[in-house]
Amino acid sequence: MKVAFLGTGLMGQPMAQRLLDANVQLIAYNRTPEKLAPLKAAGAEIAEHPRFAIREADCVILMLTNAPAIYSVLLSDTSWRMLAGRTVIQMGTITPLESQEIRDSVVAAGAEYIEAPVLGSIPEAKSGNLIVMVGALREQYQRYLQLLQNFGPNPILIGEVGTAAALKLALNQLIAALTTAFGLSLAYIQRQNVKVDTFMQILRESALYAPTFDKKLQRMLEHNYANPNFPTKHLLKDTDLFIESATAQGLNVSSIEGVREVLDTAMRMALAHADYSSLYAAITAANDGN
Ligand SMILES: NC(=O)c1ccc[n+]([C@@H]2O[C@H](COP(=O)([O-])OP(=O)(O)OC[C@H]3O[C@@H](n4cnc5c(N)ncnc54)[C@H](OP(=O)(O)O)[C@@H]3O)[C@@H](O)[C@H]2O)c1
Repeated sequence: MKVAFLGTGLMGQPMAQRLLDANVQLIAYNRTPEKLAPLKAAGAEIAEHPRFAIREADCVILMLTNAPAIYSVLLSDTSWRMLAGRTVIQMGTITPLESQEIRDSVVAAGAEYIEAPVLGSIPEAKSGNLIVMVGALREQYQRYLQLLQNFGPNPILIGEVGTAAALKLALNQLIAALTTAFGLSLAYIQRQNVKVDTFMQILRESALYAPTFDKKLQRMLEHNYANPNFPTKHLLKDTDLFIESATAQGLNVSSIEGVREVLDTAMRMALAHADYSSLYAAITAANDGN
């Protein structure tokens, strides 16, 4: 099987590298061609336009920012006409509705569509330990299980197209909400002269603890948001997607709208490309007069 990998950004690059390491035949495309250099050096074929990659491949993997990027790369007239007979595996974070609409366009082109969004970040992408959530027919899932196991040991079939996208957004809502809640409590206890160690000791022993707190603690204390695995702008994007999708389901989204405001403040503080724990800077800046 030959795979076209479209979108070799922060996540796509190490994921495509995993396929190369497993001796999967690979042709890669990225809008910014400079980012393809490491894959080229590792033996990947490079395409100058997505349609050339699609034409060569049996299976097309997408790791693009959002739905507009997918429309531009996969569903432009020239790319769309190349799709017949291929299977598209969409691995970025988009809404269930966007995923279903893209599936309909892909199927209309005579191709198959699977969604397979992932939980985990660059370290997990490099080591093949992503949590891969699959929205597909059981038969399609079984057919592509071995390929998907290059990204994570245990890809899970969630249900039909849309269900895996929904689960991914639900998990990312938790990332945004938990990190903001932790950052606010951390800032608060410091202002009230409670030792951080004491706070963490009690928190760790309590039912309130989540491992993500310790993962982000040091970055927050040091205001070190460099070398992000998951930048603030992507968490804002996913938060917006969640709000859109949950609102359409008639849910009260006021809690996550508050979190969204904090993310928006971080964006205005030029932290769009910083690690998302930089929302702590937005929380503390409110009282610093920054
Ligand atoms: N980073 C994470 O930890 C993480 C974890 C799980 C899921 N995700 C999701 O995975 C997806 C990719 O994330 P990432 O972190 O790899 O992002 P990224 O580094 O920003 O890469 C995004 C990719 O999309 C391409 N792209 C964006 N807009 C485009 C357009 N209009 N036309 C053509 N190509 C376009 C970019 O091309 P250029 O290189 O030319 O900009 C790049 O290849 C996102 O949906 C993200 O939410 C990310």
